[in-house]
Amino acid sequence: MKVNILIIDDENDIRSLLSRIIRLEGYEVFQAETGAKGLKVLQQEKIHAIICDVKLPDANGVEMVPKIKAISPQSEVILLTAFGAIPDSVTAIKAGAFDYITKGDDNNKIIPLVSRAVAKALGQFEQKEATASANDQRHSFSKIVGQSKPMQHAIEMAKKVATTSTTVLLTGETGTGKEVFAQAIHSASGRSAKPFVAINCSALGKELLESEMFGHKAGSFTGAVKDKIGLFEEANGGTIFLDEIGEMDLVLQAKLLRVLETGTFMKVGETKETRVDVRIVAATNRDLQTESDRGNFRLDLFYRLSVFNIRLPSLQERPGDISLLAGHFIKMLCAKMNHSPLGMEAAFAKALNNHPWKGNIRELKNVIERAVILANGPDLTLDCLPYDFQYTESGNQLDLMKLAEIEKMHIRKVLAHTKGNKTKTAELLGIGLATLYRKIEEYGL
Ligand SMILES: Nc1ncnc2c1ncn2[C@@H]1O[C@H](COP(=O)(O)OP(=O)(O)OP(=O)(O)O)[C@@H](O)[C@H]1O
Ligand SMILES: [Mg+2]
Repeated sequence: MKVNILIIDDENDIRSLLSRIIRLEGYEVFQAETGAKGLKVLQQEKIHAIICDVKLPDANGVEMVPKIKAISPQSEVILLTAFGAIPDSVTAIKAGAFDYITKGDDNNKIIPLVSRAVAKALGQFEQKEATASANDQRHSFSKIVGQSKPMQHAIEMAKKVATTSTTVLLTGETGTGKEVFAQAIHSASGRSAKPFVAINCSALGKELLESEMFGHKAGSFTGAVKDKIGLFEEANGGTIFLDEIGEMDLVLQAKLLRVLETGTFMKVGETKETRVDVRIVAATNRDLQTESDRGNFRLDLFYRLSVFNIRLPSLQERPGDISLLAGHFIKMLCAKMNHSPLGMEAAFAKALNNHPWKGNIRELKNVIERAVILANGPDLTLDCLPYDFQYTESGNQLDLMKLAEIEKMHIRKVLAHTKGNKTKTAELLGIGLATLYRKIEEYGL
């Protein structure tokens, strides 16, 4: 594997001397004569260690450390300080530098220091990659549950577009899995080792959202005390997920269109452009065409976003997936709650299938969580469901149940109410104790 070292120093002699010594050890060397050029190299190459002069024409080496770490947190920085500049070295370490070398030091000191910094950086890169691949696993398409045709179609489309950098618009009702898809697309892309950053466009006011997205200069508005990096910059090289894009203010929509078309934007209070390489995945549960007709959404942005539109089906469109998803959530929640495995009674499964599921997968997940908590026996039963599931408006749920099933359900309820006290239960049910015992036996309660 190639190990890359970057040397940032404005003095040619020092740069070439250091390069020679370091290359002899088999490292790849990059050079930059200014701080700005150094940071540029860092954005393009995976650099393990940086040797950076403290006195650069355009920057102070100590102040470079956080900037370097912001671009590549896994890299290690060794600062080059002038002879006798002890205070510099102390602040350097405090600022997060790995160590420092004093100019004129014995050259033999340099290599051991560089190899220690490289070893540390290698460990950090490895850990980051391990986390990224664990994330890939967690967010991969294989984790998306759904066998129905419309779902399989959506997954197929998403897999195809994932490997490109094309903008994707995910549409669908609330709770249909738009965020899950956005993450799967990122994980299956070549950008998976870089950040996936989600922004909810409806959560913030327009000024805050703009500074959150693009960052700001100190003093650009009241409260902007420090320069702030925006989420677009944080996501550089990765994916930005713009959730609820239909809620975005028109002025910001214009700025977003510009990022989509040129890859550049202006921070709040800044006059020069910042360039980023981010893949945009947007989501909405609104009909953007209608919003455009009403003047709430820019038509040009709508066209730009809908280059590749994936519509996620509602649960009602894929009833066959309901039991599958329910089974998946039961398994997942039992594991999480340390509960022994649970099944579903026929009436339970049927009630799930008859429900309108306005909140889609999210609603289903919540209903299952409640049911698992209430579980009383090896199978989930109708009475673990909210009341409106048990007695649907059309009445079909209850109408179609056998009398015996209703009796069983009711006895179970009363038993739970009396905490298993048979005498009290029989009394409340208006039957004899012997009858109750017989029914408990018969229904396996
Ligand atoms: N296909 C799926 N398989 C398993 N779980 C899923 C699937 N799709 C979504 N979920 C789960 O359902 C819930 C809702 O998904 P998600 O947040 O992605 O929906 P959404 O479309 O973004 O909703 P909203 O529009 O309300 O933001 C999450 O808990 C998610 O983990
Ligand atoms: Mg969402």
